Amino acid sequence: MKWNIIDFDTLESTNITALSYPAYSIIRAATQTAGKGRHGRAWESPRGNLYASFVLPDFGKEAALVSFIIALSAGQMLSTLCPGISLKWPNDILRDGKKIAGILLEKTDDKLIVGIGINLKSHPTKAVLYPTASLNTAFDPQGILHRLIVYFDKNLTLYTQQGFAPIQSAWKEMATGIGTQIEVRLPDKTLTGIFTDLDTTGALLLKTKAGIIPILAGDVFFTQQKEKHD
Ligand code: BTN
Repeated sequence: MKWNIIDFDTLESTNITALSYPAYSIIRAATQTAGKGRHGRAWESPRGNLYASFVLPDFGKEAALVSFIIALSAGQMLSTLCPGISLKWPNDILRDGKKIAGILLEKTDDKLIVGIGINLKSHPTKAVLYPTASLNTAFDPQGILHRLIVYFDKNLTLYTQQGFAPIQSAWKEMATGIGTQIEVRLPDKTLTGIFTDLDTTGALLLKTKAGIIPILAGDVFFTQQKEKHD
């Protein structure tokens, strides 16, 4: 893929600026003044970390799958730089169980914006929903972005040629929490159950007393208990 990288010093949010650019642009900022996180939360954006948004054409109903493609790509890329990298549903990247990167997908009528923030130099220390970590290496944001593009290109091609199955299985291999008891916080309620699988639509399958519930969006918290098999 021929990506056109446009570098800015300061933006409100790379996801917002990305809306004005054509498909296969990448908007990167050294810092954001109003970085956006999932579910309307803020994403702290001091200098030194990576803040980038990939502009893709509309993926229609497959948009949710793209979040697994980018999360897997970031996970694979980070695994070459440090140990302890895992993936957390739906699209977080963890280092030793702490969040090191987050992804925010936003759709318009004709585009899919894939925003990614990777904590390279620093991570939030104030109260945040999850514990956080950073890479803590000498890698600069531009270098990390170039490495990420290599993996994203490879996985997008794999997806185009073979569909979601190879992405799904690679994601599951790197995923944390499958087979364990989790709590899923939804806007109106919290569900508890066993994270049994990731289905072909990207939904988390939660085994509850009421049966298997597919979860399409929510915040996952690990509650440690492994499923008992007899
Ligand atoms: C999350 O809450 O986990 C998602 C965080 C996504 C942050 C990135 S930083 C680059 C892009 N621009 C934004 O405003 N947000 C995303």
